[in-house]
Amino acid sequence: MGLMHLRRMEGDAQRPDYGVDAPGVVRVFAIAGPILFIWGWFKPALHIGDFTWHFRGMFISTGFVFMMQALLMYVYAKRWKFKHRDRMLALHAWRGDERVLDVGCGLGLLMVGAAKRLTTGRSIGVDIWSGKDLSNNTPQHALRNATLEGMADRVEVRTESIVETSFADASFDVVLSNLCIHNIPKRTDRDRACREIARILKPGGEAIISDFQKTADYSRVLREAGLNVERVCKRWTDTFPPLTVIRARRRS
Ligand SMILES: C[S@@+](CC[C@H](N)C(=O)[O-])C[C@H]1O[C@@H](n2cnc3c(N)ncnc32)[C@H](O)[C@@H]1O
Repeated sequence: MGLMHLRRMEGDAQRPDYGVDAPGVVRVFAIAGPILFIWGWFKPALHIGDFTWHFRGMFISTGFVFMMQALLMYVYAKRWKFKHRDRMLALHAWRGDERVLDVGCGLGLLMVGAAKRLTTGRSIGVDIWSGKDLSNNTPQHALRNATLEGMADRVEVRTESIVETSFADASFDVVLSNLCIHNIPKRTDRDRACREIARILKPGGEAIISDFQKTADYSRVLREAGLNVERVCKRWTDTFPPLTVIRARRRS
């Protein structure tokens, strides 16, 4: 192993890593895609007795779609999610003294991003650290990222589900969340999570929530909880999956 290679590995170890979302899904697409694609080329039909099933087109196109999905999910994880994070954070007019919560913070993408916009404020991340939802998903890795980004003294991580949090009413100026709430399996629990977000927001505070599905449900529950909700954007070109962002404000 050359000296240059060792230096590069040392450099990587010092770089923050915000993980790959849904790593199992990416793996399945990355393995099944090429298999289906190649199979379609070399075994275009299946003969069972008198019956011949032609599946060349179906296998080739399905394999291609799977490969593209794996590629786009990987590019999102390694590049596009940072642009998306900055776009979400730009929706808030930062003062610097906010108390911020990142719901389903994972490796700290929004938690650390928000911390960089604070002076006297504090950025807190809550998560249940599901390895199925994000690679290397541990509180230690999240704190390591905060340290590498020079934000360790402004952040805090807690192991809690957003379905039922220990935070008091009206404790946050800003609540952020990206690609988290859809992971909660039951609809009743997703609704509870949204009600929790509404409950812990201070008067005048705002929640900025991004997800690839079910955002209409989140909007409905947040509205029922008395918040003003707007759909900020539905992006198709530079996130994968395409993400919708909603902003919900609690009246002062
Ligand atoms: C796809 S990851 C996204 C992580 C991070 N927000 C990002 O954009 O990089 C979804 C995260 O939501 C977390 N999560 C899932 N259900 C949760 C719950 N009930 N409460 C808190 N976090 C949850 C997972 O553990 C995971 O870290």
